[in-house]
Amino acid sequence: MKGKKFPEDFLWGTAISAFQVEMGRGEPSDKTDWWAWVHDKGIQEKGITSGDTPLDGPGFWELYEEDFRLIKDDLRCQSVRMSIDWGRLFPESTEDIGVDVTLDDQGNVVTVNIEEEDIKALSNLAKQSSVRRYREILESAKNLGLTVMLTLFHWQIPLWLHDPIAVHKDILSTDKRGWLDNRTLIEFSKLVAFIAHEYGDIVDLYNTINEPRIISEHGYLSEWSEFPPGKYDAQLYLKVMKNLAIAHGLAYEQVKKWDTKSCSSLGPCTVGLVPVLQVFTPYDPMDPKDVEAAKLIDYAFNEWGLNAVIHGDYDMNLDYVIQPEEQLPHLVKGCDFFGVNYYSRWHIKHVNKGAVPLENFKLMPCEGDCTDYGWEVYPEGIREVVTWAYERYRRPIYITENGIADKEGDQRNRYLKVHIEKLQQAISEGVPVKGYYHWTLMDNFEWSDGYRIRFGLYMVDKESKKRIPTKTVKLYREIAASNSTV
Ligand code: BGC
Repeated sequence: MKGKKFPEDFLWGTAISAFQVEMGRGEPSDKTDWWAWVHDKGIQEKGITSGDTPLDGPGFWELYEEDFRLIKDDLRCQSVRMSIDWGRLFPESTEDIGVDVTLDDQGNVVTVNIEEEDIKALSNLAKQSSVRRYREILESAKNLGLTVMLTLFHWQIPLWLHDPIAVHKDILSTDKRGWLDNRTLIEFSKLVAFIAHEYGDIVDLYNTINEPRIISEHGYLSEWSEFPPGKYDAQLYLKVMKNLAIAHGLAYEQVKKWDTKSCSSLGPCTVGLVPVLQVFTPYDPMDPKDVEAAKLIDYAFNEWGLNAVIHGDYDMNLDYVIQPEEQLPHLVKGCDFFGVNYYSRWHIKHVNKGAVPLENFKLMPCEGDCTDYGWEVYPEGIREVVTWAYERYRRPIYITENGIADKEGDQRNRYLKVHIEKLQQAISEGVPVKGYYHWTLMDNFEWSDGYRIRFGLYMVDKESKKRIPTKTVKLYREIAASNSTV
């Protein structure tokens, strides 16, 4: 039977992120919160991180050209999604570059006014070898004809803005508190202005922030607290969610201002947010408490951040009602598309844990069809989430991540095939999905879990760094080359 076609200009690609793939060859990036976090002995001893470090990574910092060739020639894809490491470009503070900032009466950052002379000052401060290397990397992708989707924040903050170990031990002991403070929003705006100015001639599509909810949840709300700074506090979770929504808007404005040379065939610099959308369902659909908990989690995790970015609605007490002081339309700056990361469905059980409703839930262990990570395989969900997001917010969508932790490589083909079928179905039903990026190109540093978890289409030999294809390479090539389901 013939496969069902995707739209003519559909983009197939793979996604990677700087911290997860760059190291292993060449100069390490050792001045960020994530670096400090995974190297800290105390955090390792608590079992929060695995003890693995990104130094054993795939070495993309030197081997990028080979990787782009795999994407283009072996996988027959048209695009790559990658990110830039803030700490490589600015290992030293940019705070001395004074810019005009306006705040609203609640103290939220409304505008960061960056001028030509500030860009010059940023250029002088930036680490020149990193600036050059990122240009080489991006140009290499471009020269091969790949459409470049660049993520501006895929999780590392420079240490001069975030000392996660100090925050973890005693939040009052430091003023380097990452996304909890306006400082980080202001400096992030400078970073984005610099990147858009510097690489605007190469980048086709920008993602502002990768998965604001995961940053906030795993840093401030999850029982495991395995992301920096691992500080369990529901109020901090909300504060960071709020600041990341504001940061999206600030970044959006900077790209629009500074990418004056946009090279894209997709139109002048296109800028979107990347939420992870998951399906949340009650563990026991007959138990009203589970039903209520699943409703709240769906609202807090999937909807809340999009309501903030698109409508300026910041429901700070999570009561589903937007009070006048929670309506902040002046913080809405725009969002040209959603990059949706979709992996799984979760069953939510109500448990009594804390003082605020948001704490009183548990993600139940996967039963049935589960991945190495214990995530449920639920292909229908990809259709559900893109349909929901489009119907509600009317933005075009790229699937910016979808993939499976499958060390043995025996589940990945089925996972990919069925998710692609469900995605095609959503498109045929009218959802404007413009591209699909498989997570991920090659086995990489899976954050606090290190190398135990393997999402790669290619395995990587630890010593030689040779990329070894899994069975799924052939399947994904067939899909991308035929632009259809198989
Ligand atoms: C992140 C990736 C991560 C993947 C698998 C996403 O949350 O964007 O960096 O490796 O999921 O866990």
